[in-house]
Amino acid sequence: MYFIYHYEKLLLALIFFLGIWKSCASSRIPGQLSMLERHEQWITQHGRIYKDAKEKDTRFKIFKDNVGRIEAFNSGTNEGYKLSVNKFTDITNEEFRTSHNGYKRQYPKLMSKSGQKFFRHANVTALPTAMDWRKKGAVTPVKDQGDCGCCWAFSAVAAMEGINQLKTTKLVSLSEQELVDCDVRGEDQGCYGGLMDTAFQFIMHNKGLTTETNYPYTGSDSTCNTKKAATPAAKITGYEDVPANNEKALLQAVAHQPVSVAIDAGGFEFQFYSSGVFTGACGTSLDHGVTAVGYGTTSDGTKYWLVKNSWGAKWGENGYIRMKRDVAVREGLCGIAMDASYPTA
Ligand SMILES: *[C@@H]1O[C@H](CO)[C@@H](O)[C@H](O)[C@H]1NC(C)=O
Repeated sequence: MYFIYHYEKLLLALIFFLGIWKSCASSRIPGQLSMLERHEQWITQHGRIYKDAKEKDTRFKIFKDNVGRIEAFNSGTNEGYKLSVNKFTDITNEEFRTSHNGYKRQYPKLMSKSGQKFFRHANVTALPTAMDWRKKGAVTPVKDQGDCGCCWAFSAVAAMEGINQLKTTKLVSLSEQELVDCDVRGEDQGCYGGLMDTAFQFIMHNKGLTTETNYPYTGSDSTCNTKKAATPAAKITGYEDVPANNEKALLQAVAHQPVSVAIDAGGFEFQFYSSGVFTGACGTSLDHGVTAVGYGTTSDGTKYWLVKNSWGAKWGENGYIRMKRDVAVREGLCGIAMDASYPTA
């Protein structure tokens, strides 16, 4: 009797223990998920479809490698910014560079450049200590260029949306697709890259740009819808280049309006940037067009440029990146001061 009683207790204890063990095993926190499980979750989250098991395996290996490098970076020396797993985690850095940038720098730079020496803000000394054009209502929500290398169109359009709002007080989202489809002269090749300055030239020649709603973004090259392109919603009178390799001149320009800038965004750290003030690593091989929409200083005294990207609102700080300002090299971090320009209205 005594023995049976004891045996039952033991059995109950065993069942209880197994129950706990089982529930722990099935509800592990994300940090303890296996890499395969993390990839599965990521696939679901991003709606990724692989054509077969072979491709899935290839993508898993890339995912695993990227996650490893992201985690190593975040637990390493504090660089002032963090990386995170994002929608680019199953592609290599090489694939990323060819599909998500698209700024074609001209060597030597002429033709597309205005050739102007005049810089209207050259003598402006009284500048605000910080600027955020979003707070002034001059910046549309972050857009997503997708797998099309037409950053140049997004950069030019964001700068134009800014000057148009400053002139008319109305914030109108304008059409990148019109540039992708219709501005197909010279350097501007839709998803295969282009330049902001030649986009501004096209917009002047075309007597404006229509709205995003009228000519929505498709993310691929199509033939120009001339009817839609003939109904402009905003105009520019010209564009000017910011004196090159001079962050002070860039500051004078950004204090007055959102400015198109070209940067070297091809690095692994840029691909997975998530928050903080980006300090590199990057070079000056300009491959990406973005828009400087402000500047400021963090509470610990780090000066930064506020940059609007076109990789959706889930990349970086809600689609933005803060990049270190006033660095030791004249070109600016990632070459941000090399090829800046702005439209005039
Ligand atoms: C800036 O000042 C210089 C010297 O006074 C003058 O020559 C130049 O035209 C001024 N630039 C602008 C844009 O006003």
